[in-house]
Amino acid sequence: PTLFVLNGPNLNLLGTREPEVYGRETLADIEARLRDHAERIGFDLDCRQSNHEGELVDWIQEAGKSAGIIFNPGAYTHTSVALRDAIAAIAAPVIEVHLSNVHAREDFRRHSYISPVARGVIAGLGSKGYELALDALAGLATSGFQ
Ligand code: DQA
Repeated sequence: PTLFVLNGPNLNLLGTREPEVYGRETLADIEARLRDHAERIGFDLDCRQSNHEGELVDWIQEAGKSAGIIFNPGAYTHTSVALRDAIAAIAAPVIEVHLSNVHAREDFRRHSYISPVARGVIAGLGSKGYELALDALAGLATSGFQ
């Protein structure tokens, strides 16, 4: 089975972007670790990043029948009805992941258009959040784990 890892705008800059907020690992580092982890538990990972809202919509539709999507929508979390509607339209479970604790930052980061249509939300645990999301989706796919 295939799981998707979709990252939104500016997450291509991880490693150098506000490292005190987002850490020093690059997106390539995180994806490599996730791929190893996925292989160990018997899943294929399709990892993608885009700075473009419409491209993310296309990818969510493409991943609609997969075993699940780990999704960090970046700033589109707080702005995008289009991404929310894309998620509402598909069968695959989506776990929303944020590196930072969006509730401990500016007020505008506290509202997510995505959370109401996500299967679960992980925020504030750094890159570990992606791994936890991977385990959760793998559990859902294999045993219907709640
Ligand atoms: C983020 C949090 C968002 O508010 C921000 O716009 C990002 C990254 C996170 O991973 O903590 O780009 O999604």
